[in-house]
Amino acid sequence: MRVFGLLLLLFGLCGSGAHGEGGGLGEVGEISQFQKTAPRDADEESTKQTTEQTTTDIWGEVRALRDMVVELKVELRNMKARVKDSESQVKDLKAELIVTKVLVDLLQKENSVQETRLTVTESITSDLERKNADLQIRLSSSEYELLVSKSRIDQLEREDVEIPKVAFYSALTDAGNVGPYKTDITLKYSKVFTNTGDAYNPATGFFTAPVKGVYSFQFTVCGNHKGNMGVYVYKNKQRMMYNAEWWANAGYEYLSNSVVLELIAGDEVHLVLPAGFFVFDNLNNHSTFSGSLLFPL
Ligand SMILES: *[C@@H]1O[C@H](CO)[C@@H](O)[C@H](O)[C@H]1NC(C)=O
Repeated sequence: MRVFGLLLLLFGLCGSGAHGEGGGLGEVGEISQFQKTAPRDADEESTKQTTEQTTTDIWGEVRALRDMVVELKVELRNMKARVKDSESQVKDLKAELIVTKVLVDLLQKENSVQETRLTVTESITSDLERKNADLQIRLSSSEYELLVSKSRIDQLEREDVEIPKVAFYSALTDAGNVGPYKTDITLKYSKVFTNTGDAYNPATGFFTAPVKGVYSFQFTVCGNHKGNMGVYVYKNKQRMMYNAEWWANAGYEYLSNSVVLELIAGDEVHLVLPAGFFVFDNLNNHSTFSGSLLFPL
């Protein structure tokens, strides 16, 4: 019975929620009047008392409930306001999200453009690096060639400075026969054609080595009548070579030879007519003596 009444009361309260607090109280009053007309006997009287007591309690509870409901309504209103706020915030956020998405799309597009540019730049860079390496190889090979050329030029300059130019060529005389004499005589080749370095002296017939080196000498001896023809080759006072021929006929006879000698600076080479020998020359330069420095040592 109490439970039923309480439910009815709650029902009434909820139903009158829209009309305000006053409406709710009025309905509760009607229910309590219906309960007062119900008692019949003592039991009923006792029950009536209990009921009244209960009713009083219920009223207290109802009031508490009403207050609670009022509080809940206020809270509900607040919550509704908060929900509305939240909804509008959600809307704002959604709009913001859309904007953000658009921005992200834009950024992604820009990113892909940048990536493409980067790829192009990288390929250009690697191309340039390859070209650079190629140039460096060419440069180092050029540098090497330059070094070789420089060393060759240095060598040539050294040779040009250090290697003396020594060569002579001479013929004996225009005077015809020389000899025979009772003693050996030095042949003075007086007609000088070439005397680079002035190492040959036509006044003495001596060749003097200007530097240490290997020298080459050639000579031709001519005979034009019966008798011994020939020459000695001397290095300083030392005889190096004897060339001789017995010529029994008329007309020209020639004897040629050559010698290669290692000389030091100041060494002398000359040709000697042996005692009893003759040699012929005239304007035609039949008898000649020549020599040159092959290379220094
Ligand atoms: C011999 O040498 C002279 C220079 O001394 C020259 O004029 C002449 O032509 C030469 N003779 C021959 C046949 O070459």
